[in-house]
Amino acid sequence: MLAKNSLVPNRFEHAPLTVFANSLEASRAVARQVAELIGTRQREGLPTVLGLATGSTPVSFYAELVRLHHEERLSFANVITFNLDEYRGLAPEHPQSYLSYMREHLFDHVDIPAANTHLPDGAVPGAAVDAQCREYEEKIRAAGGIDFQILGIGRTGHIGFNEPGSARRSRTRLVTLDPLTRSDAAGDFGGEEHTPRYAITMGVRTILEARRIVLMAWGQHKAGIVRTSIEGEITSQVPASFLQEHDQVHFILDQAAAGALARYRTPWLLGALEDQGLAWDERMTRRAILWLSQKCKKPILKLTDDDYNESSLQDLLQVYGSAYETNLAGFYQMQHTITGWPGGRDPARTKPGDAPVRPLRAPSANVFPKRVLVLSPHPDDDVISMGGTLCRLVEHGHEVHIAYQVSGANAVSDESLWRALLFVRDLGLTDSETTRRMQALCSAYEGAGVLPASTELTRWKALVRRHEAIAAAHACGVPTSHLHFLDLPFYHGAPARRRQLGEADVEIMRQLLCSLRPHLVFAAGDLDDPHGTHRLCLHALRDALELSAGEPWFREAELWFYRGAWAEWELDEIDLAVPLSPQEVLRRRRAIFRHETQKDQALFLGDDRREFWQRTEDRGRRLADAYNALGLAEYEAIEAFRRYSPEEFLRHGQL
Ligand code: F6R
Repeated sequence: MLAKNSLVPNRFEHAPLTVFANSLEASRAVARQVAELIGTRQREGLPTVLGLATGSTPVSFYAELVRLHHEERLSFANVITFNLDEYRGLAPEHPQSYLSYMREHLFDHVDIPAANTHLPDGAVPGAAVDAQCREYEEKIRAAGGIDFQILGIGRTGHIGFNEPGSARRSRTRLVTLDPLTRSDAAGDFGGEEHTPRYAITMGVRTILEARRIVLMAWGQHKAGIVRTSIEGEITSQVPASFLQEHDQVHFILDQAAAGALARYRTPWLLGALEDQGLAWDERMTRRAILWLSQKCKKPILKLTDDDYNESSLQDLLQVYGSAYETNLAGFYQMQHTITGWPGGRDPARTKPGDAPVRPLRAPSANVFPKRVLVLSPHPDDDVISMGGTLCRLVEHGHEVHIAYQVSGANAVSDESLWRALLFVRDLGLTDSETTRRMQALCSAYEGAGVLPASTELTRWKALVRRHEAIAAAHACGVPTSHLHFLDLPFYHGAPARRRQLGEADVEIMRQLLCSLRPHLVFAAGDLDDPHGTHRLCLHALRDALELSAGEPWFREAELWFYRGAWAEWELDEIDLAVPLSPQEVLRRRRAIFRHETQKDQALFLGDDRREFWQRTEDRGRRLADAYNALGLAEYEAIEAFRRYSPEEFLRHGQL
């Protein structure tokens, strides 16, 4: 959780920004500003020209505009809109077109005349694209220019679809989408092979001509690019950095998206902590020492007074008295994160002189065996992110349950299902009717290269993943009777980036928690997943915990968050580090191999073509190397977790 920091703006930030507690509050604040502008201009008899974005970011912003229309009589009769972009090749009525998006989220719910809304047409013939782009610019000019431009930001740093390399002088035009952008959008299109390659977008110059610009960004997965855009130099490699040149731009961030800014990561570089409303508490101390050790490329215990003094850490030296004492404080904090007994040890088998099981906390520290619930958003996240820890918990005698939150059916290719259907067809054991159906489906796939989409086939794809999960859990020693396939309904509704959690999702989670009454809950505290599934799964856990707050087990439970397939915790965020032996790494690899249908996914992961087991092993090794570089023990691999009590987690609402 980020601390409040009053020292703003600072020398690192080249654009103004406001950080909100969460994206909902932030969206409401932006909607309010837009409503005020519309109101003021209406009173002056003037129209308001809005530049609009799509994607997952502005969903709550549009919801708030719709609410203001219904409940506070905000009228759009005098509003003219221009959308930033549209996918090339999609007809306006295509369900994934940005026109469909705008109708679903705004246009169909407010009193805006259809003639006042403008989007590039993705379906015009190739020869007409340039003329259309010129006309789009002309229409913006004729409307008097854009008064208020709403932007999101892509992980590539794109605004609109101006990908890295876009020139500052660029205008509305046809562009090629970056592989990372396509991989982020693949969930909306049922796989990257169906995701458009091109789009028509307003140019950087078109955007910069707006009189006022607000860029919104939510979530940890945007933190890196937000930082580069605000603190980095202006470069066409990060098109959002051009916004630094605009004198009426404002970045609106939630805490996760702001998390990589210097004001939070290295506040000591901005001035005295107390002047910023901050203190040298344990976490801040650890963060500074780890930062210094990495900066100086020295193990913690070799840092000197000079190292601290020369790196703006004189105040920290004052707190501890000397580099020696400061080093020890940081060293012990890190050492105490390491445990080979992630669930604690059987007290009956503990001998005097055994190493203490450090990171465990009251109240359930001495309970043995523990009921452990591992929550896996998709059917493979458990083994990918904590396969080694999972095996240890089982071996140490704990009662380990795994709950798979969504079916994962969307990530099974037609080809994978076709192979399963061939198997059933050729078994010759089923009745002839089934055999005929299998034959028809297989022939359909062999002819067209795709299977006909249907709810039944989606269910079969879910089964394929279920069986992979059963095999992977088996490889870790978890019996099938301890597996829970929750199949949360939110996953099957809207396209990936427009999904919302419902009461049914939360109720399923609540029932699971109440029936298992776990001592330890492991969950993906992973807000980096570009498709947002992990985020919704985490929110489902949060809401279910909220409903369970009165239960006796709730007070004794501990939550441990792993980071998921996309990123690792920062060193200073880690509360528990479970070291793995080379044999355990291999065992985890075998478990990940059971998820055969997911191997193909590597082909679709942006520029990074590594398979999940490779990412897992690289990540575990990198973390082990980082511990080693700090001067701690040398391990083969480490799996890392962040710990919260349920109360702490509910207080924070998000990580
Ligand atoms: C959308 C657009 C894009 C998105 C960006 C972020 O019209 O032009 O720049 O704003 O890709 O997408 P989300 O919000 O889905 O993360």
